[in-house]
Amino acid sequence: MEVLIFKDSQSLASKSADLVESQIKTYPDSVIGLATGSTPLGLYQELIRRCNEGGLNFTNVKTFNLDEYVGIPADHPQSYRTFMDENLFNKIDIDKSNTQVPDGMAENPLEVGPAYEKMIEEAGGIDLQVLGVGTDGHIGFNEPTSSLGSITRVKTLTQQTITDNSRFFEPNEFQPKLAITMGMKTNLDARRILLLAHGENKAKAVHDMIEGPLSAFCPASALQLHQRTTILIDEAAASELSLKDYYKFVGEMQDDLVRKHRPSDWIER
Ligand code: F6R
Repeated sequence: MEVLIFKDSQSLASKSADLVESQIKTYPDSVIGLATGSTPLGLYQELIRRCNEGGLNFTNVKTFNLDEYVGIPADHPQSYRTFMDENLFNKIDIDKSNTQVPDGMAENPLEVGPAYEKMIEEAGGIDLQVLGVGTDGHIGFNEPTSSLGSITRVKTLTQQTITDNSRFFEPNEFQPKLAITMGMKTNLDARRILLLAHGENKAKAVHDMIEGPLSAFCPASALQLHQRTTILIDEAAASELSLKDYYKFVGEMQDDLVRKHRPSDWIER
């Protein structure tokens, strides 16, 4: 795992955009996995800016979103499809037919997961997956105790996630308690992973993900098994890491010495 710690969320967004841009420029037909939530908004704003300034184009990019609520239509204001359209897809030059979000209104939600996995496979697999992490260590909607070998499927949300996400729903509005989510295996199969986190409320989850034991109780800890994961966090999210100084030292060593002797995309793990 490469752990990069930033002084603020703008520098974190900028570095994560650099990594996504470099992926797309190297492979213009990249398959990118995307997340919703507040965490990637800075990244998406930066990608929109770069696209509008003409330095980056998404015309051949394909995307697969991590998850979608079950029981609300795609055009619902709180659907993850709407979130992606409003916060990224409508503002860049991507072909909408190349953007996939699981269908939360499928007649049989149990059939969505296997079909979604097949679509990912047919697209050639995910080259780069963008992730956030929940305060309880979830990734996508892989809640604590999710199988670390899981694939896309229906999951029941924990009370913690329902409470965390209730800010997006009106007090008396229907709030879904089920979601379709890529599984942990789906995520681990991505060739490269960028996990972003900021704020003190993520500090414990970030600690458990990076330094805690590998455990389904903190699904994000499964990223310890992945060979090309970069964790981009701010100082607040890094505040519970016991080896924080070491991660910064590793970064300096890479810059000063190691990168000279390795391919430019080499990452210490
Ligand atoms: C979103 C998702 C979730 C979020 C996580 C953090 O597609 O899959 O796992 O990444 O809940 O949410 P925020 O970024 O709102 O703190």
